[in-house]
Amino acid sequence: MYLRMPSAVAAVFLCIFAANPAASADSGSANSVAVSDKALVKEGAYIFQASGCVGCHTAEKPKGEPLAGGRRLKTPFGVFVTPNISPDREHGVGAWSEADFFRAMREGRSPEGAYYFPAFPFASYAAMTDADLSALWAYLQAQPPRARRNQDHELDFPFNLRPLLVFWRFLYFDDTPFASDPAKSEEWNRGAYLVRVMGHCGECHTPRTLMGGMRLDREFAGSKSGPKGDRIPNITTHAVKGIGVWSKEEIVSFLAEGYLPDGDFVGGAMTEVVENSTGRMTERDLSAIAEFLLATPPHAGP
Ligand code: HEC
Ligand code: HEC
Repeated sequence: MYLRMPSAVAAVFLCIFAANPAASADSGSANSVAVSDKALVKEGAYIFQASGCVGCHTAEKPKGEPLAGGRRLKTPFGVFVTPNISPDREHGVGAWSEADFFRAMREGRSPEGAYYFPAFPFASYAAMTDADLSALWAYLQAQPPRARRNQDHELDFPFNLRPLLVFWRFLYFDDTPFASDPAKSEEWNRGAYLVRVMGHCGECHTPRTLMGGMRLDREFAGSKSGPKGDRIPNITTHAVKGIGVWSKEEIVSFLAEGYLPDGDFVGGAMTEVVENSTGRMTERDLSAIAEFLLATPPHAGP
């Protein structure tokens, strides 16, 4: 979770705490997606990597089983402990239907209708295409079930109150599907989708408002308070503060191998992004990301 919300603001929210997230669950029988469809599962594997799901949903110390959850995400509000998203029927999402999965990713809501915390970057994933979500779901279901029990988050009051998220959603959650910009090239559009949606790069690289929304007027301008307190660099085309002087090849090779143009190696929270995500993307997709990044407006900061 990369958010900050002063408790005064949260307290105001608390006063108007009347919202009841009406359950919209229509999760009847579990959908038997074509897990046997090997091509679909393979496609899903790529989307899964590009979207960086495994890091957050796998315990870090001691190293847990993939997708069994248990990673502790420390934030100013307390600690989030990620849930099990393996297809275990009791502890994971094995009993979910595909519609349940779509609702989680698109609307940030559980099968029972409860709001998810934005520590789960559904606000970025919400714009994923139907085809990509279906492939991702097929991939998840094809993974080994892990019988690890979910743990409660350890959040400070009042951040532990899910109904309060209705305000955050009202202010910051935009569930508009991804739409290509016909004025831009196909490569730029692919890059925009990879960066803004799947790679959720802005969840770290875009500064936040006091209430934890992404400041889209300063998209990718970096942030002083990333995960684990990391300072997150500016990746706009600003020549001094950002990566405006990087060549397309330098961006591609950084995302593929982790080497900065000055020969340094990537560190901090970006290490896992390169290892699990960009380092596994095709050259073509990395080139699309670079094309997109090199066309961002130059913002100074952080
Ligand atoms: C930055 C960390 C992070 C990333 C990246 C992430 N998640 Fe999560 N995810 C979370 C957290 C934290 C929660 C718990 C949210 C809550 O309790 O409100 C969660 C919840 C979920 C849930 C709901 C599980 C349940 O039991 O209700 C699903 C499904 C899920 N994530 C799938 C995914 C998928 C698929 C990806 C990749 C496309 C992904 N997540 C990437 C942190 C992350
Ligand atoms: C979990 C947070 C996180 C996410 C998600 C993330 N980054 Fe980063 N990124 C960082 C951090 C932290 C650094 C600084 C790394 C270092 O200190 O070596 C960084 C560094 C970079 C740099 C080098 C900038 C410089 O001036 O050194 C680039 C380029 C970059 N990221 C691009 C991306 C792209 C593209 C994505 C999405 C595919 C992305 N990042 C997703 C945290 C993140």
